[in-house]
Amino acid sequence: MNAPLFNRRQFVAATSVGSLATVAASPPAARATARHTAAKLAIQGGTPMRTRGWPGWPIWDQEADEAQVLSVLRGGVWSRSRVVADFEKKWAELNQAKRCLATTHGTTALITALNALDIGVGDEVLVGPYTFVASISVIFLVGALPIMVDTDPETFLINPEKIEEKITPQTKAILPVHIYGLPAAMDRINTIAQKHNLVVLEDACQAWLAERNGQKCGTLGDLGCFSFQNSKHLTCGEGGAILGDDEAVMDRAVSYHNFGHGGPYLGSKCRMTEFQAAILLAQMQRLEEQTERRWENGRYLTQRLQGIPGIVPHTLYEGVTRAAYHLYPLRFVAEEFDGVSRARFMSALRAEGIPCSGGYGQLNKAPFIENTLSSRNFRRMYSLRQLDHCREQIECPDNDRLCSEAVCLSQRLLLGTREDMDDIANAIEKIAENREQLA
Ligand SMILES: Cc1ncc(COP(=O)(O)O)c(C=O)c1O
Repeated sequence: MNAPLFNRRQFVAATSVGSLATVAASPPAARATARHTAAKLAIQGGTPMRTRGWPGWPIWDQEADEAQVLSVLRGGVWSRSRVVADFEKKWAELNQAKRCLATTHGTTALITALNALDIGVGDEVLVGPYTFVASISVIFLVGALPIMVDTDPETFLINPEKIEEKITPQTKAILPVHIYGLPAAMDRINTIAQKHNLVVLEDACQAWLAERNGQKCGTLGDLGCFSFQNSKHLTCGEGGAILGDDEAVMDRAVSYHNFGHGGPYLGSKCRMTEFQAAILLAQMQRLEEQTERRWENGRYLTQRLQGIPGIVPHTLYEGVTRAAYHLYPLRFVAEEFDGVSRARFMSALRAEGIPCSGGYGQLNKAPFIENTLSSRNFRRMYSLRQLDHCREQIECPDNDRLCSEAVCLSQRLLLGTREDMDDIANAIEKIAENREQLA
C-alpha cells in the first residue's frame, strides 16, 4: 500500500533483483544504448520516452506498519513512552551513535540541538544557503545570526574552501547540511572547527544512512539532526531525531525537549508520540534496502548522464561511501544547450514522462532574512554593526547561479529499476540530441 501509480506488490517485484525482467521490461526505445537522432520530442507531439508510472511514496503494509500503529492505539499510552524509547535505541544502533533523542520534527530537533550546544544570542553560525528554510530559520529562532557561506556548485554543498574567511570572534558553530542526502566535506569542516574551537551541528534531515568512509551522516559532527516528515526516506508524517555521543550534551537535549525537566534551564516541549515511533519502527525495516537501491541507481544515472552536453551531474566528495539521494541533482547549462531555458528543458523532460523540479530557490535572498534582521527583537539583541555584518554575507554568487541551473529528480524515481534509470537518461539524451525543437 502506498501512493498511486505503483502498488506495493509491483514495488516489491520491481525492487527485487530476481524479478527485474518481468516488471521492468522496457520498450525497445528505452534501451541503454538507444540513440534518438531526429526523434520528435514528446512536447512537440512525439511519443514520450516513458508512459508508465513511477514508485509512489510513502510505502507501508499491513503486517508491519498497520500492526504497530494498532498496537499503540489499543495500548492506550499514546504520548512518549516505551515505543519511542525503542525507536531511539534502534536508530542510535543503526547509525552507531551512543545516544538518540526523538523529537516532533526535524525543525524541533535542530532547535533542541542548538539549545543543547548552548548557541544563542550573540553567536554566529556558519551555514550554506542551498537548503530547506528550516536549516537557517532555526538559527534565528534561537537568537543567533546565520552567516552565509557560498555553495560549491559541483556538489550542491557548503563550500569548505569558503568557510574560514567567514569566521569571526562571534562564530560559535558550523551547520553543514547534507542536502539531498549528499554528504558534506566533513573531514575538512571538522578540521576547521577544531582549529577555531567551533562546534559542528549536522543537518542530516535528508541524509538517513548516507556515509563518509563507512561512518553515517549525523554522527560526523558534535550532534546530527534528522527529519521524518512525509516525503522523507524514513517517515511517520512528521518527526525528528538527534544523534550524539556526548552524554552531557544529550542530557541537556533531553531536558530542553521536555520543558527543561531535570536540567537547570527552561525548555520547550518537542516530545515524539508513540504513534510516530511505531510507524518509524516499521518503516526502518525497509530503509537499508531502499537506501542501497537509491545509491546504486544514483551512481548508474551519473555514469549515463556524463558526457551529455549541457548536463552536469553533481559530484561527490572524496570519501563518500554512500549518498542517500533524497533528490538526484544535476545542473542544466543553457549556454551549452543552444540557449534553451531550464524551464523549457524541464517541460520537455516532463512531457517525456520524467517528473523533475528546479530544486531550491535563493534562500540567501529570501525576505525573511532582512525582515528578521530589522525586527524589534534583533535590533534589541544586536548592534547595527553586527546586523550589518550578517547582511553583508548574503552575497553568494555561486549559489545564485546554481539555483538557476539545478534540475532535480525525486527519490521515488531512484526506487525504480536500472531500466527505469535508462528511461531517465534516454529521455535526457533524446532532448539533448533534438534541442533545436525547443527553440
Ligand atoms: C535540510 C532540512 N532541514 C530541516 C528540515 C526540517 O524538518 P521538518 O520538516 O521535519 O521540521 C528539513 C525538512 O524538510 C530539511 O529538508
